[in-house]
Amino acid sequence: MAGAAGGTQVILRPMTLADLPKVEALDRESFLTPWPQNAFCYELTDNSHSICWVAELTTPGYEPILVGSVVIWLVVDEAHLATLAVSGAYRRHGVARRLLAQTLSVAYESGARQALLEVRESNQAARNLYYQFGFEQVGTRRAYYSDTHEDAILMTLPELDPDRLSVLLSREEN
Ligand SMILES: CC(C)(COP(=O)(O)OP(=O)(O)OC[C@H]1O[C@@H](n2cnc3c(N)ncnc32)[C@H](O)[C@@H]1OP(=O)(O)O)[C@@H](O)C(=O)NCCC(=O)NCCS
Repeated sequence: MAGAAGGTQVILRPMTLADLPKVEALDRESFLTPWPQNAFCYELTDNSHSICWVAELTTPGYEPILVGSVVIWLVVDEAHLATLAVSGAYRRHGVARRLLAQTLSVAYESGARQALLEVRESNQAARNLYYQFGFEQVGTRRAYYSDTHEDAILMTLPELDPDRLSVLLSREEN
């Protein structure tokens, strides 16, 4: 999408309160069980350990379109991926890869040295994305998801490498 005709590009920036309606709509579109009402607002206003960013598709002369969002919790030296979503029509263009690389870099600058996440066993798209970052499967949380009772795969990235994140961030979009 970057460099496409008409100057269209995807930019990454910290989430703001004004983004919340679109972030919540994206969350509802993307997950069987969306976050509770006010959860994103709490992350922005009350959780100082939360790193919240969005991806926007911008075209000169048009309203930007919010196409992705991510929340990472910084717990001492660990970055915990809380949620990540990209709008259906804008998937497979590297938006999630860039959002995750950017926010893990921010987490690194704030002291994170490792990362952790849970992902539904059936979510092969997300698991492939995490493998690109070097996440490894280290365990299973049985029936972790209350909606479908699906297992969660626990994945960790034992050493956050800022150089690798920078390569993933700047990789050409599809
Ligand atoms: C998972 C998700 C965030 C990926 O977003 P995306 O912007 O389409 O991902 P990217 O384009 O950055 O893809 C990066 C890599 O992820 C993997 N990937 C992404 N979508 C994939 C798919 N549909 N099938 C297989 N692999 C996929 C690929 O390895 C891809 O690298 P490649 O393009 O070099 O092949 C998106 O599908 C989504 O929002 N899903 C619903 C919400 C969700 O499951 N979030 C994760 C919760 S743990």
